[in-house]
Amino acid sequence: MKTRGFFGKMATVAATFAAGALALSGCAGGGAGGASNSDSGAAASNGGKVKVGVAMPTQTSERWIADGNAVKEGLEAAGYEVDLQFANDDIPTQTQQIDQMITNGATILVIASIDGTALSSQLDTAGSKNIPVIAYDRLIRDNENVDFYVSFDNFKVGVAQGNALLFGLGLTDKDGKKLDNAPKGPLNIELFAGSPDDNNAKFFFDGAMSVLKPYLDDGTLVVKSGQTSFDQVAILRWQQEVAQKRMEDLLTSTYGGGSEPLAGVLSPFDGISRGIITALQGAGYGPAIKDGLPIVTGQDAEIASTKMIADGIQQSTIFKDTRTLAAQAVTVIKAMAEGKQPEANDTTTYNNGVKVVPSYLLEVETIYADNLKEKLIDSGYFTQADVDAGVVKK
Ligand code: BGC
Repeated sequence: MKTRGFFGKMATVAATFAAGALALSGCAGGGAGGASNSDSGAAASNGGKVKVGVAMPTQTSERWIADGNAVKEGLEAAGYEVDLQFANDDIPTQTQQIDQMITNGATILVIASIDGTALSSQLDTAGSKNIPVIAYDRLIRDNENVDFYVSFDNFKVGVAQGNALLFGLGLTDKDGKKLDNAPKGPLNIELFAGSPDDNNAKFFFDGAMSVLKPYLDDGTLVVKSGQTSFDQVAILRWQQEVAQKRMEDLLTSTYGGGSEPLAGVLSPFDGISRGIITALQGAGYGPAIKDGLPIVTGQDAEIASTKMIADGIQQSTIFKDTRTLAAQAVTVIKAMAEGKQPEANDTTTYNNGVKVVPSYLLEVETIYADNLKEKLIDSGYFTQADVDAGVVKK
């Protein structure tokens, strides 16, 4: 498919923006050059407004609700119109929502995909109408019409998860430095990964394995089930119940139903972690780490898991401040609306199968019981009352 490329799209959006600004200032109708509504594509179809379609995957996990709302607020504060939709983790729902956004005159799309390979028809249409597409947190694959990617450094998220597990097992300090008095092992661990259709899941797993591998190679750590490949350990759609069932099956097949030692479990996401912990406690481990519950990692600082960390049940989580990711998306959109090239800080890592997508990647923090207050409460992300209750009170 032939499109006008990034700057062609930007010119269209910038013209839209200019036309909207003129209309707002009461100067519409001057018919001056590029600001005229005679421009084709997105600008013509929506009456000269910057209208951003924001497609989020699901409301079953808190982070996506926070992401969606924060992006919407930031864009509205900048004066743009926003169409925010959540897709219930259902691919046809998401494709329909994006089709509808385009029909309704979206001039820019922000998409956190469910399946990163399932949106080609929507992206082809966006490309043919010169609508820029920003992949939000999850890379959209196999299509040239992905103009920018905002996310966290996903490989580093995995490294942080692997390091948290090593630290929890007493093998390293928090930075991954080997301790002299570390246990010799062998220590049994099990591995979980995220959804195979989410481009991030492989990055998290590879990052974690990069730090676990030396300990697996020298026999300090043993994956007793033998299930070590991404395909064997991935959990479709990141589902808590599926993870719980897999952990229960592993305990039955490999740990005598809970009578044999298991030191830790690599978990890529708090929902999966809670499923794993339920299975472990059900088989008689724990109930808390001090009682012998295996070390379980996580991601997203969901409130239920944050409480479990404070209570000494889940060992850690990776905090991704969705406020900063949303703000970064808004910065990118503002640049696009003004016809500028958004600033990238990574132009090599994220090849979507067709091209390397310019990216802006943010840093993450590992949360343990001892820094939870400083990182999550003092920063205003949660209140102490939220953490104590394990739910966010409005
Ligand atoms: C996100 C994670 C999240 C997971 C499940 C991933 O794409 O990067 O933050 O835990 O999806 O929602």
